[in-house]
Amino acid sequence: MFSLVNLILAGALIWLACKYFDLKKSLNPTEKRYSDLVDALASVVDRVEGYDKSHAKEVTSLAVQIAQKTTMSSEQLLSLETAAKLHDVGMLMVINDNIRSRRKLSDDDSFLMRNHPLLAEHYLKQEVAVTDDIPTIIRWHHERWDGFGYPDSLSGEQIPLPARILAIADAVSSMRNSRSYRKRSYKTDKEIADELKRQSGLQFDPYLVKITISILEENQPLS
Ligand SMILES: [Fe+2]
Ligand SMILES: [Fe+2]
Repeated sequence: MFSLVNLILAGALIWLACKYFDLKKSLNPTEKRYSDLVDALASVVDRVEGYDKSHAKEVTSLAVQIAQKTTMSSEQLLSLETAAKLHDVGMLMVINDNIRSRRKLSDDDSFLMRNHPLLAEHYLKQEVAVTDDIPTIIRWHHERWDGFGYPDSLSGEQIPLPARILAIADAVSSMRNSRSYRKRSYKTDKEIADELKRQSGLQFDPYLVKITISILEENQPLS
């Protein structure tokens, strides 16, 4: 049985470990440089996609907030953070002026667009260790809880938790922001929360819908 003193000691040790990693990060210029380069690449992708503000940053921030309310390990959280920044890197290979200027995509353009998770995974896997999970998180960021997503039509918990989190964070940011070829259709976070509720168990994991709505509430009361 843990006594109160044990619990306080464990809490203090965890706090110290977190501070150690924060300090190590701020003192490690290579890590900082790597992180800045990933951020810079993410903002290039945002511009190519036609977002009017920093989509990748918003997706990353929300994905991390959601993940912190789950039982995800710190290693998985780090992978999710980088995957969120780079989730649409495959768009660099598919988006073109044709797609950017249209309200409604042709079947060919839709087919091309739907390949962006696969292209990202394919090219990232050529550069990172085979055990790295970032490319596969990106591969599955358009899968849906009900199995109607792409590219693999996975459903429910077949989709790894980081990819499910990335999917909902990406959707919230997309609903919040307009693009050059698509107007913003949800004016408030309340409307977004209502849409998340409608899509609970369909597009999104119901457990993550509850967490995401609670985060939207914390940031700004929804009623
Ligand atoms: Fe995407
Ligand atoms: Fe996105």
